[in-house]
Amino acid sequence: MFMAACNQSAPKSNTMTDSTTTATVKLPAAARFERTIDGKKTELFILKNKNGAEAAITNYGAHLISLLVPNKAGEITDVVLGFDDIEGFQKAAGAYYGATIGRYGNRLAKGKFTLDGKEYTLFTNNGPNTLHGGKKGFDSMVWDAKQTDSATVELSYLSKDMEEGFPGNLKVKVIYTLTDDNALKVSYEATTDKTTVVNLTNHAYFNLNGQGTGSVLEHSVKIDADAYTPVDSTLIPTGKIEPVKGTPFDFTAAATIGSRIEQDNIQLKDGKGYDHNYVLNKHDISTPVATVVGDKSGIKMEVFTEEPGMQFYTGNFMNGTNTLKGGAKDEHRTAFAMETQHYPDSPNQPAFPSTVLKPGAVYKTVTIYKFSK
Ligand code: BGC
Repeated sequence: MFMAACNQSAPKSNTMTDSTTTATVKLPAAARFERTIDGKKTELFILKNKNGAEAAITNYGAHLISLLVPNKAGEITDVVLGFDDIEGFQKAAGAYYGATIGRYGNRLAKGKFTLDGKEYTLFTNNGPNTLHGGKKGFDSMVWDAKQTDSATVELSYLSKDMEEGFPGNLKVKVIYTLTDDNALKVSYEATTDKTTVVNLTNHAYFNLNGQGTGSVLEHSVKIDADAYTPVDSTLIPTGKIEPVKGTPFDFTAAATIGSRIEQDNIQLKDGKGYDHNYVLNKHDISTPVATVVGDKSGIKMEVFTEEPGMQFYTGNFMNGTNTLKGGAKDEHRTAFAMETQHYPDSPNQPAFPSTVLKPGAVYKTVTIYKFSK
């Protein structure tokens, strides 16, 4: 049995000093994740593979805290943003750093949806809308956790009938596995006893140059999506599926994040940058839906998913208020997220792929973030 590991450091440790050095590679101290929240124990789990990659995960909100992979110089680099203790995650809950998101990832218009003729009303925590599960989403819950081997942790959570206004007792399982090809595999499963809606995702913020190394605007991005779902000024999809061709949303050929982000485009204005759902061309795990390369580190991340959509978010609301692992501030656009998921507001958009889960059916989906150099 593998228990929570203690404070460890990886080879070639660097200390963060300025925006050009590799970020700190020390994993946070396990003791700073050992708390009692809502009467349940929280802790830190460390996953390791045969190639020296490591991931740290806590059962508080099933957050991914650190992900250590080598850069082109062989230096271990922490490519996800996070905090040194649980309190950091609690304080910055609204940014969802590394969190597992549910019951419904992304936005639901006006905090309402109808199922089998019955209207459900949720807490609106994002202007007029509900974002990432409402007032207290899965990111703020204490999950049951079991580390099944050195590279795998299984987290489960029972979301009770009408928790945050969603019908049905939903049994959720999230399994993180760090595979030997330096990939983090996230598998999700859920079942319900009443018809409900489910849209789970992971909200890791990546900086492939290393957390705390500054802007991600020079990262190169390729997204295998010919279309996206444009939004209104509250970031709710209009219902249209529009081609990316000829717009700053076209990442079918690799482009840097920053090359068109300031263009005069109403969608970019309303999103304050990229904060949009891409309609993926393929989502069968066989080919990457997105490929991102850190300009300084040479670290390449490929995203594979079974989900039909991916929210590409460029840290537009980051503003330096939070102090991350090792002391860096979460400055504007110093990370990006690629949240694989069903489209936002699907329960209110009959033309979008369905997010309805019925009793007897199993919600099952896999996303993989694979790193190479
Ligand atoms: C949303 C952003 C939001 C961010 C953090 C993303 O998934 O699309 O609008 O600011 O999460 O809450």
